Amino acid sequence: MKEKILEIKDTALNKINLVISQDELNNLRIQYLGKKGEMTSVLKQLGSLSPEERAETGKFSNIAKQEIEKAIEEKQIVLENAVYDSIKEAEWIDISSPAKKAKSGRLHPITQIQNELENIFRSMGFGIFEGPEKEDDYHNFEALNIPKDHPARDMQDTFWLEDETLLRTHTSSVQIRTMENVKPPLQGISPGRVFRYEATDASHENTFYQVEGLMVGKDISVANLIYVMKTLLKEIFKKDVKIRLRPGYFPFVEPGFELDINCLICSGKGCSVCKQSGWVELLPCGLIHPNVLKMQGVDTEEYSGFAFGLGLNRLVMMRYGIDDIRHFMGGDIRFLDQF
Ligand code: PHE
Repeated sequence: MKEKILEIKDTALNKINLVISQDELNNLRIQYLGKKGEMTSVLKQLGSLSPEERAETGKFSNIAKQEIEKAIEEKQIVLENAVYDSIKEAEWIDISSPAKKAKSGRLHPITQIQNELENIFRSMGFGIFEGPEKEDDYHNFEALNIPKDHPARDMQDTFWLEDETLLRTHTSSVQIRTMENVKPPLQGISPGRVFRYEATDASHENTFYQVEGLMVGKDISVANLIYVMKTLLKEIFKKDVKIRLRPGYFPFVEPGFELDINCLICSGKGCSVCKQSGWVELLPCGLIHPNVLKMQGVDTEEYSGFAFGLGLNRLVMMRYGIDDIRHFMGGDIRFLDQF
């Protein structure tokens, strides 16, 4: 019987030695030491021996059992350490390596320039007015001296909605809403998103951003318009900018102008950006048409005003030399990350 015990012990120790997983070790523990384990069943046969033999073999088998238990315990520690080592390796930190730069979010370049413009205008005493993007015909067209069937409606391709409302084509609509609420003298800008039903290409988008503005007061003339525009441009471009006015037609202003600036890329010498002309078309403007003022109950004998429309996409494109307007709505993080 001793031999049998020895044999069981030796194979057990060998097997324990070769074990590489916790599961295997657990199985061996059951196989040898469990209630129905090999060692246990041998011990159950002790009863068949003579008392002397029983005592001796009992002792012998107890020692063998303890050896197996010890081997399992030791293996247990080895296995646990191995797991711990692999965790340590995965979590190991090289405290001498340079820190990873934290990725920070930023404002969209259009938002940035809009904030800048709002600050500039605020410093000149302009209020900031907002209005709905879904507009009615009256505020987007009629109140701006563009009656139904007027050919000027074709100047702005429009997204019409089913209930005969529309997506505003410009924020001039907000200026009407402002005049409905504020009596002159008044001065304010209306920043916001506008929509045109247009095919897109490098210089056309169906969704873009404007800051339109107006000033209504006594004796407001083209001189006031020029002064405010020059101050604005100087603040945006951080230098004196030469401007020129060309006649331009918009139903809600009379006279209406296109304001051009001396090309900032070539200082007016002529380059590809200004198409060799030395001038870049920047913003439409003019004196508010008396019809528009009258519709808001403004006495045109007493008051006059000017209005202008700034395209924000265009402004950002000029500032950073961006050649495709579609980048703004493209959502490409590599583009946005640059600002
Ligand atoms: N509302 C015009 C547009 O979106 C711009 C404009 C504003 C023109 C004010 C003249 C005066 O195109």
